Amino acid sequence: MRSYFDLLRQYGNSDILPMHMPGHKRKNGYMGGIAKFDVTETTALDDLHHPTGIIKEAMEETAALCGSDESFILVNGSSCGILSAITAVCDHHDTILLPRNCHKSALNAVTILGLRPLWVEPPKISPLHIDGSISPKNVENMLEHHPETKAVFIVSPTYEGVVSNIRAIADIVHKHHAVLIVDAAHGGHFRFCEAFPADALSEGADIVVESLHKTLPALTQTAMLHVKSDSADKDRLRFALQCYQSSSPSHLLIASAVECLRLMEQQGTVLFPPYLKALAEVRATIEGLAETCLFKNNEHIFGYDISKLVFGFNGYSGGDLRQKLLHDFHIEIEMSTAAYVLALTSVYDNAEDLFRFASSVTHLRRELPLRKKASFPEIKLEKRKQMMLPTDAFKAKKEMLPLKESKGYVSAETLYLYPPGSPLLVAGELIDEKIIEAIRRYDEYGYTIHGTKKGYIPVVK
Ligand SMILES: Cc1ncc(COP(=O)(O)O)c(C=O)c1O
Repeated sequence: MRSYFDLLRQYGNSDILPMHMPGHKRKNGYMGGIAKFDVTETTALDDLHHPTGIIKEAMEETAALCGSDESFILVNGSSCGILSAITAVCDHHDTILLPRNCHKSALNAVTILGLRPLWVEPPKISPLHIDGSISPKNVENMLEHHPETKAVFIVSPTYEGVVSNIRAIADIVHKHHAVLIVDAAHGGHFRFCEAFPADALSEGADIVVESLHKTLPALTQTAMLHVKSDSADKDRLRFALQCYQSSSPSHLLIASAVECLRLMEQQGTVLFPPYLKALAEVRATIEGLAETCLFKNNEHIFGYDISKLVFGFNGYSGGDLRQKLLHDFHIEIEMSTAAYVLALTSVYDNAEDLFRFASSVTHLRRELPLRKKASFPEIKLEKRKQMMLPTDAFKAKKEMLPLKESKGYVSAETLYLYPPGSPLLVAGELIDEKIIEAIRRYDEYGYTIHGTKKGYIPVVK
């Protein structure tokens, strides 16, 4: 792969007078000089939406590297890839099977496109209440009962690194003539090192979306979409990508994506071993701490991504640990829930960074009194009842009701539980006593529920 940044650098350092966008004109004084390489299409560079030069070359090489029919570099994150993949496959009123822990972008696609969602529920793994793998059997049951299902959407790996058996699921999905879309936003690094589970594309998925920016050295918003399928319409996919991505894509982002892939292709085998060695030591250190639970591969899940450090101290909330790590040790972690913290590592962490993290967690463990019991009981939710399509609920006339008085109404919006951002109640679902109680308890444990406002909930009038 050729260096896209070299081309961008040449342009940035040239005497070419920019009589074109962006309006900051690449002036040195602009925000401390960050604008120098921030350009969109120019004669010297290629066009993301109609690539004919170095971007086309990079995408073709990415397809060869990843084993796809076609790969696309994305500048609006996995979010735009997920929206595009679903748009390419599903028509208005089509049925799509999704896991209850899917990302917001998948539900946005369901709402915009007027789809009928069916759900597969991942089991919760104790004691940290982490979403487990999606069972192929459950997917099969759903497809047998709903043969009209057009697409199956699976998140693998999840935010916490849990992997599902994509090969088995792909076989089932294909047997039922549906299309398998995998949200592998957190698994962009898998194919570059054997220590990680197999990537979803090589396991038989039709369309796979992977963020580059989450787990690989690439700028925020960069991602990839791969397609390897006769049943996914590639022209529709290209059209959708143009709809959901800017028509003025940042070439800094494109350069970063190309450079990241180039680095992994050329130096992955050199970069991963020292990182993995240090990571193994860090995992062993955290696992050895008293009254500490580090999530790892176990018999309840299909596979696990060891790059995620997901752990909790018994009797302390993830929020407590997060605050302490930031204030006492100047470490900002990726995410915390009532039960655990998630520290994200990547091949760009050096041994010094990783050991500093392990030593800080060890110090913190020594500072905090030991407690025996987990402090956060699981909040169990029954299967929710869908009364109308999410799109119809979203477009219906709404009113805001106090949560306490909303029993029996239909939610007009999808409520998301933060962290980690999974849908608690989807637009069109019935509000019952159990969900009201769950919202109240999540609130008590310090979660934010997007979609509710100061104890009020939007309902269909
Ligand atoms: C499971 C999952 N899928 C998709 C996304 C969207 O990715 P991006 O931020 O690259 O748009 C996220 C973001 O956090 C995510 O957690």
